[in-house]
Amino acid sequence: MVRAAPDTVNILNLLEIHPTDSIMEPRNFTPLDRLIIGLDRVLGAAFGRPAHASRANPAGGLSEAGRLTPEERSHAAGLMRVNHAGEIAAQALYQAHAFWARDHRTRQAMEQAAQEESDHLAWCEQRLAALGSRPSLLRPFWYAGSFAIGSVASLLGDRWGLGFVAETEQQVVRHLESHLGMLPAADLPSREIVRQMRDDESRHAAQAVRNGAVELPEPVRSLMSLAARVMTTTAYRI
Ligand SMILES: [Fe+2]
Ligand SMILES: [Fe+2]
Repeated sequence: MVRAAPDTVNILNLLEIHPTDSIMEPRNFTPLDRLIIGLDRVLGAAFGRPAHASRANPAGGLSEAGRLTPEERSHAAGLMRVNHAGEIAAQALYQAHAFWARDHRTRQAMEQAAQEESDHLAWCEQRLAALGSRPSLLRPFWYAGSFAIGSVASLLGDRWGLGFVAETEQQVVRHLESHLGMLPAADLPSREIVRQMRDDESRHAAQAVRNGAVELPEPVRSLMSLAARVMTTTAYRI
């Protein structure tokens, strides 16, 4: 079980939330509650508090099919570090939308998706540790950038916010597909994690479309791809 840091415990005590509770449960939080919870999440996700998974790691019972060479291990770690950075950005994106959402149901859908992104974050962290590596050192930057972009999209209206989520998730699905082609064939645990993440992201995209996402104009979509490329090439190494 992941233990909450003492400062987190104090914040959660104020709100009468047990650290092992899911704070994504639908409750009638006041705007001040949401601000405090949001700040706690920002600091936790950006500065590396271990993520809590509510589902079992899909790689749980798997081991590598044969020995990975040092180059393969380092390449797999680079790819999983990119995926971990992407999940930090996804957390920020959903938390920004949940924070600014006007509609209660939209907020709940965003919080539910953020919980699933937290599973992804935890699984990537666990895989990086098993590969003897570490997450990106630029986590605060990925978090802050994504929260800022998500906030701007959300402030344009819930349907624009959902449009941004749908496009992000669709781009992430394509990115994860490409990782399935690049991960070493013997790295079955990483492959299984990426496969489950791809299925979840695909569901998140479909859900955003069902909830009323608008289709973003082409220049915005291209700009988003460019930003994602900067993140993926940087996080592979740093
Ligand atoms: Fe994710
Ligand atoms: Fe997602």
